[in-house]
Amino acid sequence: MRRWQGDGIYFGGDYNPEQWPEQTWSEDVELMRRAGVNLVSVGIFSWALLEPVPGRFEFGWLDRVLDLLHDGGIQVDLATATASPPPWLARAHPETLPRRADGAILWPGGRQAYCPSSPVFRERSLELVRAVASRYAEHPAVVMWHVSNELGCHNVHCYCDVSAEAFRGWLRERYGDLDGLNDAWGTAFWSQRYGDWAEISPPRTAPTFANPTQQLDFLRFSSDEQRAQLRAERELLKTLVHQPVTTNFMIGTGIKHMDYHSWADDVDLVSNDHYLTAADPQAHLGLALSADHTRGVAGGDPWLLMEHSTSAVNWQPRNVAKLPGQLRRNSLAHVARGADGVLFFQWRASRAGAEKFHSALVPHAGPETKVFREVCQLGADLRALAEVRGSRVDADVAILFDWEAWWGVELDSHPSVDVRYADRLTALYGALWRAGVTADIVHPSADLTGYRLVLAPTLYLVRDADADALRRFVEAGGTAAITYFSGIVDENDHIRLGGYPGAFRELLGVRTEEFFPLREGEQVRLDDGSTADVWTEWLHPEGAEVLASYTDGPLPGVPAVTRRPVGAGAAWYVGTRLDEPATDRLVARLLDEAGVRPAAQAPTGVEVVRRRAGEQSWLFAINHTGSEVRLAVTGTELLTGTECAGELTVPAGEVAVIREGQADGPA
Ligand code: GAL
Ligand code: ZN
Repeated sequence: MRRWQGDGIYFGGDYNPEQWPEQTWSEDVELMRRAGVNLVSVGIFSWALLEPVPGRFEFGWLDRVLDLLHDGGIQVDLATATASPPPWLARAHPETLPRRADGAILWPGGRQAYCPSSPVFRERSLELVRAVASRYAEHPAVVMWHVSNELGCHNVHCYCDVSAEAFRGWLRERYGDLDGLNDAWGTAFWSQRYGDWAEISPPRTAPTFANPTQQLDFLRFSSDEQRAQLRAERELLKTLVHQPVTTNFMIGTGIKHMDYHSWADDVDLVSNDHYLTAADPQAHLGLALSADHTRGVAGGDPWLLMEHSTSAVNWQPRNVAKLPGQLRRNSLAHVARGADGVLFFQWRASRAGAEKFHSALVPHAGPETKVFREVCQLGADLRALAEVRGSRVDADVAILFDWEAWWGVELDSHPSVDVRYADRLTALYGALWRAGVTADIVHPSADLTGYRLVLAPTLYLVRDADADALRRFVEAGGTAAITYFSGIVDENDHIRLGGYPGAFRELLGVRTEEFFPLREGEQVRLDDGSTADVWTEWLHPEGAEVLASYTDGPLPGVPAVTRRPVGAGAAWYVGTRLDEPATDRLVARLLDEAGVRPAAQAPTGVEVVRRRAGEQSWLFAINHTGSEVRLAVTGTELLTGTECAGELTVPAGEVAVIREGQADGPA
């Protein structure tokens, strides 16, 4: 367990009192108490107010805010306030501004306009951290520290000269000498051989495709530079404060450039921000995936949902509002999947600024609103769920996820632009979700013992050790399924020779000699009745049994889905992009073979997840359908206090959480 022990389930959000006159602050605290808010993040974008001129700090207003919150019994997640530098920094040090690949400067006026490798930014930001932390280390309201905000959200890739120098330093560390770099980057190609470190730059806009390993290393470097800011702030905090330190990750939001698996040890508790993609009718699946992935990054420990929205956001093309009941379903789905706190952006909807149309706990229309009523209801719900805090989520299935595989597979000059990293992940995850089965989303180097089924979607780049671990998992009796364009390259993005899918060829007992990606919109049929698109390959079984073959398309008669018994387990290969019903059937067979059962028998559209602590367990049932459902359970419904002896009714759109066991009390 990490060094984090909350008190009940945290509930609250980003609180930006500096946007409001002081009279509003006491009303804020009163409304927070009414809603049951117990934790707010303060000071995230306050640098310009805390240090209005370089070196002069003004803490008076923040003193008053923290005292007021403390008097109201509200705890504080205090920001280091380094998220966005004040305009004076760019004026005094224009070289701190980030540059795009084509050399364009990103100017102040929005947020996060700083070069992540800038020593000036680092120094000034750490001075601020020192000042804030020294002042508030012992403040009784402060229970947690919030480093920066969404590190890398807007400025992760900087191509300026300062970053170029830092990139060279990073490369020297990685390769030691230029021979190592030239080998890794395959610079024998296109006359790219480097004779001097000074010749190397970030992959700036070039006449044509930049060297793929240069691109990949730049992505690694850029994630590491952001992590370096986290580490620097955290190290300093550790000398000054005693509370746990976190920073908000963006797992499952489509933002792909921070390798959070490698950041997890740099926080005392993992926290995450998640926003629904309004245009996606299956957005609740994306939410569940994000939560399961956050838990995977946290090593299975409880985590904190630092931000989500009570209703619409402001930054999508059409900012769809949440219908009544959706706020509750969304928030409790995160709790079901291991969140020990649900916070929002933000407490009070702004009057001014780019986010004035973003929803909040207190909308522009005030507390007499659907949103605030639902917020108060959620506060009550979370109090009723206090006992689940600290419990862990049951999962027999793991899905392997590696940010480096994502980066690698989506580089340019590949067989098909239709091969996207999230695609098969989402498809397999969706099939599990529909089957009522929870999965941990973990790094390929994670310990796989204890899982029954491991899925490896599009694991294009894989290390030898990780491929080996998957083989051992199968030999020991596990079931694994690997999808196309996996195991293709090593960590330098060099092809694994001898036939695809390189790293997994032996385990799977297949050898592919050539890829046959499909044209846009082209479909193929399989002899088991499924259809597929995007991808086919000329595959030869070498020890695997054939489960389905193509009946048309470029490769009639060629196997598409195979299975090879290995040791006490089996390894399945899916060489094409199966449609949804076929993916559901495939996953059903895998679950059956692996002996994995759903958390509860529930109709499709009812999300069921179990949290457990020792002998005690809690079942979450979230009804996403338009009709009432009945589930066979025994226990006490925590939200309503109802005892259910054998059967539970969950109305349309509602949520139930059951303490499982005898209906007459905790087991
Ligand atoms: C997050 C960010 C918040 C706010 C929010 C709006 O990315 O951390 O500060 O901008 O989005 O949805
Ligand atoms: Zn830079």
